[in-house]
Amino acid sequence: MAISTQPTEGRWSSRWLFVLAAAGSAVGLGNIWKFPYIAGENGGGAFVLIYLVCVAFVGAPIMISEVLLGRKGRASPINVMRSLARQAGASARWSFVGWMGVLAGILILSYYAVIAGWALNYVWLTASGTFNAASAQVATSTFDQLQQDPVQMVAWHSLFILITIWIVARGVSRGLETAIRWFMPLLFVLLLVLLGYSASSGGFAQGWAFMFDFNWDVVGPETWLIAMGQAFFTLSLGMGTMMAYGAYVPDDSNIGSTVLTIVALDTFVAVAAGLAIFPLVFVNGLEVGQGPGLMFVTLPLAFGQLPMGAVFGTVFFVLVSFAAITSAISLTEPAIAFVVEEYNAQRSRVAISLGVFCWLLGLGTVFSFNIWADAKPLFGLNFFELVDQLSQNIMLPLGGLLIALFAVWVLPQNIVREQLEVRSDGVMLLWRIVGGIVAPLGVAAVFVYTLLPLFTG
Ligand code: TRP
Repeated sequence: MAISTQPTEGRWSSRWLFVLAAAGSAVGLGNIWKFPYIAGENGGGAFVLIYLVCVAFVGAPIMISEVLLGRKGRASPINVMRSLARQAGASARWSFVGWMGVLAGILILSYYAVIAGWALNYVWLTASGTFNAASAQVATSTFDQLQQDPVQMVAWHSLFILITIWIVARGVSRGLETAIRWFMPLLFVLLLVLLGYSASSGGFAQGWAFMFDFNWDVVGPETWLIAMGQAFFTLSLGMGTMMAYGAYVPDDSNIGSTVLTIVALDTFVAVAAGLAIFPLVFVNGLEVGQGPGLMFVTLPLAFGQLPMGAVFGTVFFVLVSFAAITSAISLTEPAIAFVVEEYNAQRSRVAISLGVFCWLLGLGTVFSFNIWADAKPLFGLNFFELVDQLSQNIMLPLGGLLIALFAVWVLPQNIVREQLEVRSDGVMLLWRIVGGIVAPLGVAAVFVYTLLPLFTG
């Protein structure tokens, strides 16, 4: 295979566009759908605090590593790892990290599009008044019916993939930047509108207490595992997304402060989503520990009981859809950038091929909710669960672990100094301890804990 280390030409038009693009990648279903339900199932405040610790000590250093490698290598993750490993006199096999990332991106997008498809469907359902004064039974059966109907699910899944691929095909500046410029500000406005709505609903104090009152009793080792997994997923780490986006960062932006801004934005959205959702749930006397159905059953039910609920409910699902789209486009970037630079291929063609492939793979997830629900080929998991666990619990942590180790222990430290603009030795030492020891150990611990049960049953 030809080794092309041609530096990429693409650049974000400013440091702010990179911040928005990376935040667009980070902020997605992970923040709005997953974070609130996981927090809800894991006791609220205790989980939130542990999650913040994971974000600070594991998430942030890994994101810094990804962005600095991407900007230094200025290529797709596979070629970045290969060329930087060579430069450092290490094995070119480090490019394995890039390959695994490409695969993880494809796997994640395949089911991400299915769940994002539900959100698209819910824009329509809420807007048309399905949940107005609806009973709990109506809310539950609406969600069940959608999951039982492969044709409907495939239709929404297809629509989501189409939108994503259309944007991706248009390229970094015409496609990604344009979408990001529109969607991200809108997303923040919609979120603030919803926060205001929820603050005036009467359940705010209770929602606030649930999110921030700390209770050690509900904390166990699994709480740490779940929080760490969530930190990886929500920050888009471990598969080269941030490396691919980092390759387009202008030379004069400071990586440290940029990453901190991105992490802060992502955390803000997750916490704000919780604060928007829980008060509505409490004020209607509903349960917060409903799992994945929190956003698709409990919340529509809550909106349905509230004044102007159909309007704000629609706003909410539009917000979720935008957030999901800017994340989905980022899942494709490592793969697309690689094929384009390696084979000089036309971006739109590569995007379409990838879209078709992810769409096909996504059918497996669609069917896991209905016609294949009982097919459990491996480890007692169905297709969706397998793809989800393999990508999230194995590939992302492994990728993140290797990336941090590479950046701290393999890459020559003068490169790190130059990329991060670090002058003081104390800061360098701190970076090596947190990025090279604390973060990898944290990931390794989680890794072992999640893998053990697979083998010991
Ligand atoms: N972070 C996104 C979310 O929270 C999902 C996502 C986008 C992602 N790109 C990623 C997750 C790369 C892991 C790796 O919904």
